[in-house]
Amino acid sequence: MKISIYLASSVNGMISNKKGIPDWLSQEYGDGFMKICRHTKAVIMGKKTYDILVPDYLPLKSNSEGTMIVLTHGVSTNPPQPNVIFTDKNPQDIVNMLEERGHSEALLLAER
Ligand SMILES: NC(=O)c1ccc[n+]([C@@H]2O[C@H](COP(=O)([O-])OP(=O)(O)OC[C@H]3O[C@@H](n4cnc5c(N)ncnc54)[C@H](OP(=O)(O)O)[C@@H]3O)[C@@H](O)[C@H]2O)c1
Repeated sequence: MKISIYLASSVNGMISNKKGIPDWLSQEYGDGFMKICRHTKAVIMGKKTYDILVPDYLPLKSNSEGTMIVLTHGVSTNPPQPNVIFTDKNPQDIVNMLEERGHSEALLLAER
């Protein structure tokens, strides 16, 4: 499994602002984000990042477009679409889950 990170950073090394919302990012970042997610077809993100993206900016709309893994302890919540998976599994189990769904690469969104 090849795992890449897609991360916007300011020149002074910041990846977010005090508001915690991505209002400082460019259109180019957004376009690149959508493009690389649709190319990679598997995206792993934390719940706070997911909450920023949902519903309008989730990059993969259906199972045919790919899988979005969302790390959360709230695994009993039903996801809004079948290609969103809420999980608290460890990294190896997440890789195994993605491989079982046919993925050989994944994109990690700004995980620390
Ligand atoms: N610059 C960039 O490219 C970029 C990209 C994406 C996001 N961001 C920024 O990053 C910030 C969000 O990042 P963040 O680090 O604060 O939050 P995050 O990683 O998006 O989400 C944190 C949440 O993920 C869940 N989580 C994390 N690790 C887990 C684990 N091992 N097991 C189960 N659940 C786990 C927990 O959710 P629960 O509380 O639900 O359990 C935790 O509260 C935002 O400000 C966003 O704008 C920047």
